[in-house]
Amino acid sequence: METARPPGEVSEKHWWRSGVLYQIYPRSFADANGDGIGDLQGVIDHLEHLEWLGVDGIWLSPVSVSPNADFGYDVADYCDVDPDYGDLATLDRLVTEAGRRGIRVLMDLVPNHTSDRHRWFQDARTSKGARHRDFYVWADGQPGGAPPNNWVSTFGGPAWALDETTGQYYLHNFLPEQPDLNWWNPEVRDAFDDILRFWWDRGIAGFRIDVCNMVIKDAALRDNPPSGPGDPFIEQMFGQRWLYNANRPEVHEVIRHWRSLAERYDPPRLLLGETNVEELGTLAEYYGTGNDELHLGFNFPFIEAPLAAGALRAIVEDTEALLPDGAWPVWTGSNHDVSRLATRWAGGDDHKTRLALMMLLTLRGTPVLYQGDEIGLPDGPIERGDVVDPVGQRFWPAYKGRDPERTPMPWGPSEGGGFSAAGVATWLPLGDPAARNVADQRAEPDSVLGFVRRLIALRRGQPALSAANYRSLDAPDGVWCFSRGESVTVALNFSDRTVECDAVAGSIVMSSDPGRPGGPAGGPAGPVLDLGPWEGVVLVGP
Ligand code: NOJ
Repeated sequence: METARPPGEVSEKHWWRSGVLYQIYPRSFADANGDGIGDLQGVIDHLEHLEWLGVDGIWLSPVSVSPNADFGYDVADYCDVDPDYGDLATLDRLVTEAGRRGIRVLMDLVPNHTSDRHRWFQDARTSKGARHRDFYVWADGQPGGAPPNNWVSTFGGPAWALDETTGQYYLHNFLPEQPDLNWWNPEVRDAFDDILRFWWDRGIAGFRIDVCNMVIKDAALRDNPPSGPGDPFIEQMFGQRWLYNANRPEVHEVIRHWRSLAERYDPPRLLLGETNVEELGTLAEYYGTGNDELHLGFNFPFIEAPLAAGALRAIVEDTEALLPDGAWPVWTGSNHDVSRLATRWAGGDDHKTRLALMMLLTLRGTPVLYQGDEIGLPDGPIERGDVVDPVGQRFWPAYKGRDPERTPMPWGPSEGGGFSAAGVATWLPLGDPAARNVADQRAEPDSVLGFVRRLIALRRGQPALSAANYRSLDAPDGVWCFSRGESVTVALNFSDRTVECDAVAGSIVMSSDPGRPGGPAGGPAGPVLDLGPWEGVVLVGP
C-alpha cells in the first residue's frame, strides 16, 4: 500500500487529527558527530526513515540549553539549542528538511520550572529584592526551621530547598536544580509569550508542554491534605493528595491564553499537554470547551492500564464520553518516562506488541509513537553503574529510574548500532543492536516495522480510521471490538486463546499476525471470525 500523502494534506488546519506523531528523544536517536550523544544532525540524517514510516509530526524532547540535571527538563536558556545537540541553524535546517518530507516539528516547552542555572534564578537568589526574585516561589520556613508547607517533590523528599544567602525556601516540584516558576507573576507569563513566539515564528509547529497541569500553585501555599485508600497510587505513595500544588483552577486561564496565541498562526500551533493526571474527568477539563484550551492532552490512565481488553476499553469509553464536543483524544503506549510498551505491555512478546500498536493506530485520536516502538524495541539493559537518571540514582533498586526507556536507538546490527560509530562510548548502553534493529526489520516485510508502516498506510488509506466516530461492539471475554464509522471494524484479542467472534462484519484488510492463514492482509472474515491468541484484525466493509 502506498504511503504517499495526498497533496495539500500538510497545510490542513487540523493536520494532527489524521496524522501520526512520533516522539524523538534526541539524546538517544542518532549521534552524527561521534560523541556518544544523539544530536539534531542525527535526526536530519534519519528523516528518510520517518517519511518512509509515514509519520506526520515529530516531537523533540528538550534540546534547549541545559546543564542536564534532568536531561533537558532543566532549561538554562529557552531560546537557544544546547551544544550537545547542535545550534539554532541546525534546528532551522531540521525544520526545513522535515517540512520537505511533509513532517512537522514540535518542541518541548518546560514552563513549570527552569534550571537553577537559568539567569533568572541566578539573579533571583542574590537578594530578596533582586529583579527576578518574584519569578520564583519563595517562602519563609516555619518557626523551628521546617519548610514552609508539607508539599513533597515528585522526585522524592520535600518540595522546598533552603537558600542560604537569603534565608528563604524556594519551591521545586522536581529536583532542587529545577526551581518552580511563579505563574502568578505577569512578567513570567509575558516572558513565556516571547518564548512561544520565538519558536512559532521560526516554523515550530507546536509544543508538547511539560507538566502543564502543574504550573500554578495555591497562592496561599496551603498544606496538602493526607491521602487515603481511594486516592490514586501516586498520591498514596507520597502520603498526600495533590490538591494545592497541581491542577489549580487558575491554570486553565494560562492555557487558554496560550491557545489564543497558537490560533493566531496558520495553521494554528499545536498544544499537546503533558496532562499528568490520574482522573479522566480532570484530563477532560484541560480541553476546555473543546476548542479553547489544549488541542491534545496525554492520557496517563491509558498508559498506566494493563494490556487487557476490559481495562483499556473502559478507559477509552470513558475518555470518549468525558471529552467535550470537538475535542480529540491522544493515545500513546511509551515515552521517555515509562517503560517501553514492548516491555511493559508485551513482556517482550511481539504478538502482544503488534496488538498494542494496532490498538494505538486504530482508535479515534492522534497516536504518538515513541522512538523504537516501530521495531518493538524493549527497554534497554541498565545496571546500577549505568544509571544517570537522578530518579534512578535516588530510588535504585526499588525503582530503577528512566534510563531503560532512554537507551539509544539501534539502526543497524553492527557495533555502535548505527547510533554512534563503532568504538564510541554511548551515554547509555546500547545493548545488542544485532538482536533487533531498524535495518534488519526494514529488509523483512513481516517484521514489526513492516507491520507498523502498513498500519500507518492503512490509516491514511481509510479516512474512517482517523476521522470517524468510535463505538464499542459486543465481544467475547478478553476481546475488544469497536467500529470506526460505518465502514471499519477492529477486533483485538487480548488473550492466549483462539476466540470465535460472530457478528463481525467486513473483510479483513490487516491482521497483526504474520502467520494468519491467507497472509496478514487476510480476506473475507466469513460468518464467524477466528481470532488467534493476541491477534488483532482490521475489517472493512459491510
Ligand atoms: C515530565 C518529563 O516528561 C520528565 O522527563 C521530567 O523529569 C519532568 N516532567 C520534570 O520536568
